[in-house]
Amino acid sequence: MSGYVVVGTQWGDEGKGKIVDVLSSKMDYVVRFQGGNNAGHTVVVNGKKTILHLLPSGILSKNALCIIGPGVVVDPFVLLDEIKVLEDGGMKVDHLYISDRAHLIMPYHVKLDELEENRLAKNKIGTTKRGIGPCYADKYTRIGIRVGDLKDFSYFKERLENALLIKNEIIKKVYNEKPFDFDTLVNEFSVIREKLIDRIVDSGDILNKALSSGKKVLFEGAQANMLDINYGTYPYVTSSSPTSGGVITGAGVSPKYLENIIGVVKAYSTRVGEGPFVSEQLNADGDLLREIGGEYGATTGRPRRCGWLDLIVVKQACEINGLTDLVLTKIDVLSSFEKIPVCVGYELDGKVIDYIPSTIPECSRIKPVYQYFDGWMEDISNIRDYAKLPLNCQKYIEFIEEFTKTRISLVSVGPDRENNIITHPII
Ligand code: IMP
Repeated sequence: MSGYVVVGTQWGDEGKGKIVDVLSSKMDYVVRFQGGNNAGHTVVVNGKKTILHLLPSGILSKNALCIIGPGVVVDPFVLLDEIKVLEDGGMKVDHLYISDRAHLIMPYHVKLDELEENRLAKNKIGTTKRGIGPCYADKYTRIGIRVGDLKDFSYFKERLENALLIKNEIIKKVYNEKPFDFDTLVNEFSVIREKLIDRIVDSGDILNKALSSGKKVLFEGAQANMLDINYGTYPYVTSSSPTSGGVITGAGVSPKYLENIIGVVKAYSTRVGEGPFVSEQLNADGDLLREIGGEYGATTGRPRRCGWLDLIVVKQACEINGLTDLVLTKIDVLSSFEKIPVCVGYELDGKVIDYIPSTIPECSRIKPVYQYFDGWMEDISNIRDYAKLPLNCQKYIEFIEEFTKTRISLVSVGPDRENNIITHPII
């Protein structure tokens, strides 16, 4: 079996890029299957740090073909900018393909995301304002425009005219803003079409053939389980399924190929945007986690909300995704804490529960039940051998394995590529 999946087990920003980097040099394909440029991943191109939002992180690996799959929403302006940044850095980007079935984030989607967040004011979702939700909404109301529609430009124009009829009404009447001009968009998209046309493919066919012939394919998740449209804290979620289930629908591949499903878990929790966060620390501990962990959004620069590890959250991710392995990141950030609480249960209306309730009012009433671990108070970033980790650190790691019933295959002890302890080789 040759399908590898990497997904987030918390609220995103777990450090998925790091394990993707480790794996992608051994892959034939790296595929994104959901989300869009709401994600953020820092890469170094010729010594220069760049943040990619839409391109698969595997793009830097020359061996792998990179595919933006059918379940992704593509802002073509961002896509072309990211390609240009890599090309300006001296990289050839001829190994990138885009599914004909992926939907285009249009400029009016970005505008509507911003207008709606402003309208919601104190009830806002805290989106990245990249047009993600409005684009997926149009996909499901069937007025979306797909990347493949660019192939026949007269059909693209027909779709655009149809969409603008409704979008401009909403923009004018609901938000009292300036409508979008059809001709301006047509001109912009005729340029985009020229630049993208050779990269448009039927990726499902390519990937199923590759998988059936034993090629190695990595499916790179963005966001995470708690932001899932079905299982996250709705409505404080993203508009796609960042789960292994999302791979099947979002990349159009058979589930039989997905054998290695790797969940990335940060040793503590962070969240950007609004919504429940049971183990959040609005105090000096939270501030210390943010400062040591550098917890500021790669996409929006927003300070991330910080708190202790919530194993109810991680356990749910293990179950929903069918995780075969966990990768534990940023455990070095905890080296400055004498006592480390871990949330192991939820107290709801006087009862202890071990699942995440589905409604916001229930989630808001939850109080965390903590188990306390002794810290290790020493630098662990240069350790490469599990047995050399301080005993208290090993206890923390083993408790996570025990609680989630999922093995931890890699422990990341620092930001650099080499700062890893491999406990079970994934590949
Ligand atoms: P959207 O995906 O821009 O619609 O935002 C919906 C929610 O998901 C907001 O709370 C965002 O902050 C959050 N979100 C979206 N993408 C990411 C990500 O890559 N990391 C962390 N949070 C994200």
